[in-house]
Amino acid sequence: MSISWLLRTLPAMTGEMARFDLDRTPDEPHELFLRWFGEAVGAGVSEPHAMNLATVDDQGLPDVRVLLLREVDERGWHFAGDRRSAKGRQLAARPDAALGFYWREQGRQVRVRGKVFDLGLAASAADFLSRSPSARLAALSSVQSDVLPGESDLTLARHEAERLLAADPDFVPESHAVYAVVPISVEFWQGDPASRRHPRLRYRRAAESWVKELLWP
Ligand SMILES: Cc1cc2nc3c(=O)[nH]c(=O)nc-3n(C[C@H](O)[C@H](O)[C@H](O)COP(=O)(O)O)c2cc1C
Repeated sequence: MSISWLLRTLPAMTGEMARFDLDRTPDEPHELFLRWFGEAVGAGVSEPHAMNLATVDDQGLPDVRVLLLREVDERGWHFAGDRRSAKGRQLAARPDAALGFYWREQGRQVRVRGKVFDLGLAASAADFLSRSPSARLAALSSVQSDVLPGESDLTLARHEAERLLAADPDFVPESHAVYAVVPISVEFWQGDPASRRHPRLRYRRAAESWVKELLWP
């Protein structure tokens, strides 16, 4: 069985899709995101808070990985990670990013593009301390994205992190960062496999407000 044959046999956008009422959209994109997010949770979408984060490296080469959304507020879409990681270094050099959500069970996609801001030490500490002990231990025993010489180095780092946490349960590493993507555009896409019209609505930041535009599918 060839991969090209297999790819062509796989269905996409099956089942009951959600509807997008274009006449009933708020003025602020984060309000529509929160509405859609609530509907995703209600529809039983699997891991609706998992999103792709795209950044650009110093050669201009795009990079992408999955992260968990930590918060959405008037400041933007928040995520957390290690400042020393590939994404942390890329964002320090070039604080531009895009986020992509795909809620398969509803046929929905949301795309967020914007500038990225480090929310500072207090936000990092609050986020880190809200994590489970095992998540904190994992973060403390990793130099995320560095080359790992061997499995034994990870085991050693785990033991050191365990000792550190036993001595100071509220320890917060300086490397832990919380970032916000402050959007310049947010696009909402609704799959409609029957008509293939796929409604798209983009919010584009203007001087004082948001411009809402329909896009061709
Ligand atoms: C479902 C899922 C959730 C993840 N959540 C996070 C997260 O919130 N923060 C994080 O730093 N990495 C998270 N990761 C791991 C990242 O995808 C990635 O491997 C890591 O951040 C290193 O990426 P980088 O080398 O581009 O910096 C997650 C991975 C998956 C599959």
